[in-house]
Amino acid sequence: MFLPLHVTVRVPATSANLGPGFDCLGLALKQYTTFEIELLWGSVEQGHKPFIDIFSAWGDDPAIDALPADYRNLFYQAFSQRLISLGMPVPAVRVRATIGVPPGRGLGSSATAVVGGLLAADAVAGRVYSTEQRVDLLDAAVELEHGKHADNIAAALLGGLVVVTRDERNGAWYAIRTFVPANLRAVLFVPNFPMDTILGRTLLPTGYTKVDAVHNIGHVALLLAALAIGDLKGIGAAMDDRFHEPYRAHIFPQLPDLLCAARAAGAYGACLSGSGPTILALAAEHAEEVAMALEETAHALNVDGRVIIAEIDHCGASVEADPYRATSKVDKSQHGGIVLSCTNCEIHFTLDRTDYRCDCGQPLDVALGNIGTEMNSIAWRQLFDERLRSLKAVDRSGVWRFRDLLLPLPDITPITRPEGQTNLYLVGRSQDNGGYRRIGEFAGLDQLWLKHEGENPTGSFKDRGMTVGVSIAKWLGMTAVACASTGNTSASMAAYAAQAGLRAIVFLPEGKVAAGKLSQAIAYGAEIRQIPGDFDRAMADVERMCLDDGIYLLNSLNPFRILGQQSLAFELLQQFGWDVPDWIVLPAGNLGNTSALGMGLLRACQLGLITRLPRIISIQAAGANTFYQSYQTGFTEFHPIKAKTIATAINIGNPVSYSRAKAVIQATNGLVAQVTDEEILRAKAIIDRVGIGCEPASAASVAGVRQLVTKGIIHPADRVVSVLTGNLLKDPDAVLLAQRVALGEV
Ligand code: F0G
Repeated sequence: MFLPLHVTVRVPATSANLGPGFDCLGLALKQYTTFEIELLWGSVEQGHKPFIDIFSAWGDDPAIDALPADYRNLFYQAFSQRLISLGMPVPAVRVRATIGVPPGRGLGSSATAVVGGLLAADAVAGRVYSTEQRVDLLDAAVELEHGKHADNIAAALLGGLVVVTRDERNGAWYAIRTFVPANLRAVLFVPNFPMDTILGRTLLPTGYTKVDAVHNIGHVALLLAALAIGDLKGIGAAMDDRFHEPYRAHIFPQLPDLLCAARAAGAYGACLSGSGPTILALAAEHAEEVAMALEETAHALNVDGRVIIAEIDHCGASVEADPYRATSKVDKSQHGGIVLSCTNCEIHFTLDRTDYRCDCGQPLDVALGNIGTEMNSIAWRQLFDERLRSLKAVDRSGVWRFRDLLLPLPDITPITRPEGQTNLYLVGRSQDNGGYRRIGEFAGLDQLWLKHEGENPTGSFKDRGMTVGVSIAKWLGMTAVACASTGNTSASMAAYAAQAGLRAIVFLPEGKVAAGKLSQAIAYGAEIRQIPGDFDRAMADVERMCLDDGIYLLNSLNPFRILGQQSLAFELLQQFGWDVPDWIVLPAGNLGNTSALGMGLLRACQLGLITRLPRIISIQAAGANTFYQSYQTGFTEFHPIKAKTIATAINIGNPVSYSRAKAVIQATNGLVAQVTDEEILRAKAIIDRVGIGCEPASAASVAGVRQLVTKGIIHPADRVVSVLTGNLLKDPDAVLLAQRVALGEV
């Protein structure tokens, strides 16, 4: 018996061949057909017939009207056959197909139906795939489509430009997604008349001369090389074909004139899409002119049709399944090659391990394998910039916007507010912005930015890690979460746990948590355990309780929180137009944020999103300076201390992420400094006065900048970003104190 369930699959149009790549190149385009499937009670075995509603997102089109709306429908055929081959009964369904890829035009409409049916069936069966694993579906998908268009199918499955070929000896398919310059666009002229693919094939000769074969092989290689290095001008000559276009031109006599018109208007190259009749022209900045030229020429030649400009789809078909049903069948231990790893012992653990310390005592990290290498840096930047324009919460979130690099689990349901998207204030001396430049004058810097993480939903940077940590807790099926905290982590965890419907338990050092933070944890319904001792004691207690009682630990020992906090690096770089400041300075306590920022920057560099690393500076309070002391010994020694500072957020003497943060300071050629409580309060008073405001720990970063400029370590002309980690309202008692220190009364 099946439960009611919705699955939505959206599949891109695809263009095969690209000229010479006959039967071996496919390009996915941002023009989609969507299939929404609702599972009804009962099954086909019990006599239920499918309900299929077909809508056109393409406009009036007889070919869409002619699509069968019963069991003969290609989508439904693929869906039901796939379920049968998986040994599953075929459920009764209602299908709503919204056709944006018109049939019979050489845009891979059959591939949309087959790939859609296959992925929908697999989602119903609880099978969810990463992009890499989708390659393994190619055989099954090609088998389901009578036309056997592996080129269209592979591009629809994987997205981007795909090279696909078959080993004729054993029948195995190979498909590799390769690079396309991010600014490339496809201008399509789609004639109103369909062309029968089978007829298109019968026009082709049964054999080719060696000269023609060598010509096409050379041109495919040339085309791929030109696209890979971004030599757009090289594309034109490379798109010449001798295998199909000359023969198919016989039934489309206006083809040569239309191709010429596109090229003359600035297209880099133009060809017949698949077996036609659509014409595909590749262009970048002249896309509009090419579109116009195709329209005018078609009109002059009396060919009715429509011109569209499509961007390249880099992701392939997307699947959204009802989370409760789909996740219940997923094996949490095996996910897209993502594992937990201990950098010390080089041991890997599967994702279902929730004890986040290795047996050697070292905190575990999430190892993402090759994730992020499936697209080039230009395409990533373009994707992230595009998402800024979206209204969807997951795209607007300054964490989930980068989900493909952070946590590409296809079946996760983000618990998001959305967080991130915090302001970057220009406060340097060179700024002509009245009050704000007072901070630059205080710090002694011409170019200074404040990245205000206190503008997150619960008022601190912790929300970046917490959205990921709580989403994972839910994904793993946990029912209770816990943390020890100097205040902000508990406020954040309480809020996200409440949103997710999870029980929240917080361990707080008694009397050492600022009023704003404590109020939040109480208000959001967390169970509060006041620990008679300091944060380090609370940390040890909560770790023990979580292990003993199977409760999910959400301190920064949790590697998914560190992963989420890496988004600070990506968002900052995006706000910088993917340029790099010279220094990034942040307050440091338990060292989770230092670790995460550094790991994010290192990944950005590995993926080519940036070409050099900024230097990271961790600022500690002099009364809680374990990391600073260790840095002074060249990180050869590490001694936990009893911490005491007015900046309660960083009142920590035994930081959990010490080894991660040490690696980050070393890798970024960074440094660690300390500031006194008085320096912190003076910096806070200025930040508050100009109308920005922050809590004391945050002000440590600006206090540290001022000190390092005075010492000549930071140059006054350097470009510096200082991270403010918490909101002013978190610690209202510190406000008057800071003002009095600034006025010299204390
Ligand atoms: N700034 C604020 C406002 C914080 O709340 C914290 C940490 C830090 C800086 C230091 O960041 O620990 O990653 O080095 N607060 C934790 C908490 C410990 O429990 O809220 P870190």
